[in-house]
Amino acid sequence: MKIIKDILEMQVMAEESRRSGKKIALVPTMGALHQGHLSLMDYGRTKADLLVVSIFVNPIQFGPKEDFGKYPRDLQGDSLLTAKRGVDIIFSPEAKDFYPDLFQTYVMVEQVTQPLCGAVRPGHFRGVTTVVCKLFHIVKPHLAIFGQKDFQQLIVIQQMAKDLNMDVEVIGRPTVREADGLAMSSRNRYLSPEERVSARSLSWALKEAQVLFRKGERKTEVLLDRVSGLIGREPATRIEYARICHPRTLEDLTVVKDQGVLALAVWVGSTRLIDNCLLEDNQE
Ligand code: PAF
Repeated sequence: MKIIKDILEMQVMAEESRRSGKKIALVPTMGALHQGHLSLMDYGRTKADLLVVSIFVNPIQFGPKEDFGKYPRDLQGDSLLTAKRGVDIIFSPEAKDFYPDLFQTYVMVEQVTQPLCGAVRPGHFRGVTTVVCKLFHIVKPHLAIFGQKDFQQLIVIQQMAKDLNMDVEVIGRPTVREADGLAMSSRNRYLSPEERVSARSLSWALKEAQVLFRKGERKTEVLLDRVSGLIGREPATRIEYARICHPRTLEDLTVVKDQGVLALAVWVGSTRLIDNCLLEDNQE
């Protein structure tokens, strides 16, 4: 496994791989890798000849009061994990090279970035789409793999790729969970033991909504009341949003006809967690 920091070196390597007919898969990450990331790599390994994982804590997707400074960074630990998954290249550029002085070009997707996280994290998705667009230009992947835990991010990136005719297939893969249901996230390590207990309520509330939905409940208000009740009774939780929206447009639904996405952002102490589930007739 090779660690590439130099942008030009990565571009040349990608170009040569493409020319020799190799299929390239990219798993974009900010490092602090966990089982969720590793499952994306495992999937990529089965689909591509060259598997690239980018590790870059992208400064422009963090707001001024967010956790950019304390976001966990451990390139050495991450490279041990990726080597075991058969990753060919870690691409880990320096921020000063990625966004040099006078950098001034951003990518913005409109409607689907407005609700949910977009409404509470101004500029976040502009940062995400810009970094991902640049990564696509540098790594030149045929497919790029993202976790469905960041559901809105996945929809936004798929929209960007479609709108800008990017020659890359953007694939979403299922959320990987801890044994008690908590969705894996690099931010879980911020939780105290007590907060970690409260954090289970997110996935439990999602499961409960799926049960109600299966029993025939279609009214968003009723489903969300139940979700809010279950999370709200846990210590140290504060719901930032709990919405049920259309899985493509992300518009709010008042009644779920065929399919909806129940999306949550919840503060547990000073840690912000997100999670979601699909509500659909033929769910397991
Ligand atoms: O999901 C993430 O880790 C980041 O938002 C991404 C896609 C790597 C862009 O920085």
